[in-house]
Amino acid sequence: MDERVSRVVVVTGGSRGIGRSVALKFAEENATVVLVHYDPDESAANETLSMLDSKGITAESYKVDVSAYGAVEELFHEIMERFGKVDVLVNNAGITRDTLLMRMEEKHWDAVINVNLKSVFNCTHAVIRPMIKQRSGWIVNISSVVGQIGNIGQANYSASKAGIMGFTKTVAREVASRGIRVNAVAPGFIETEMTASLPEKVREKFLEQIPLGRMGKPEEVAEVVYWLCSESSSYLTGQIIHVNGGLYM
Ligand SMILES: NC(=O)c1ccc[n+]([C@@H]2O[C@H](COP(=O)([O-])OP(=O)(O)OC[C@H]3O[C@@H](n4cnc5c(N)ncnc54)[C@H](O)[C@@H]3O)[C@@H](O)[C@H]2O)c1
Repeated sequence: MDERVSRVVVVTGGSRGIGRSVALKFAEENATVVLVHYDPDESAANETLSMLDSKGITAESYKVDVSAYGAVEELFHEIMERFGKVDVLVNNAGITRDTLLMRMEEKHWDAVINVNLKSVFNCTHAVIRPMIKQRSGWIVNISSVVGQIGNIGQANYSASKAGIMGFTKTVAREVASRGIRVNAVAPGFIETEMTASLPEKVREKFLEQIPLGRMGKPEEVAEVVYWLCSESSSYLTGQIIHVNGGLYM
């Protein structure tokens, strides 16, 4: 596909953090951007929309719970009606419900698996037929270093992020011949709201283990997501790209 023609890019969890940076990165190619979020209010989403608007980008935001299969089907139906296609899907929405396994309740497990992993199935399932029909597409799933190495207090989260890795590789195999590339990015410790509430002790312990000696910025993840959706990475599919300052090698 000629990337100079405006691509339609859907970013789940696009209201803030990594998702916002991904949306802004795609604005550089004049893409049409659809943000999906589930914040209690619209303030972060509106802020992102006005950032995109100031760059002259056509953008819309939808408040939809990506863990709800039916709602996601409806959402993509609406996006297809409105914009005619989806070229890029970035499955980025995610939550944490951290606690030691012995204290973990069923609701903590279900919430994290549903929002982080089932959502990836829901959204990918909704776009895959149209992408196969148009014989092109890019899907990037946001996993985590924790899906690779584990982390105390995150049995639910690490399982969801490891699940994303398996899903990515399988779907990449299924649709490679149709001109669709499916990859994952596994960020390390990135400065967003998700990590802002971590206790100082935990933060220091993490920093000690990062060879580059600092947390990552959302923009540094967005660069890699964007690259995976560009011609510069045309021979990559089914890959997990680690963006973690060397925390895991
Ligand atoms: N921040 C990090 O250090 C880090 C590290 C590794 C992986 N990640 C992953 O990157 C992704 C983005 O993280 P972030 O740090 O930017 O998080 P964030 O908390 O800043 O933003 C999360 C986004 O997900 C959306 N969201 C949450 N639940 C949703 C739902 N049910 N339906 C739709 N949208 C929903 C929120 O509305 C928001 O837009 C997540 O998948 C996270 O697991 C983050």
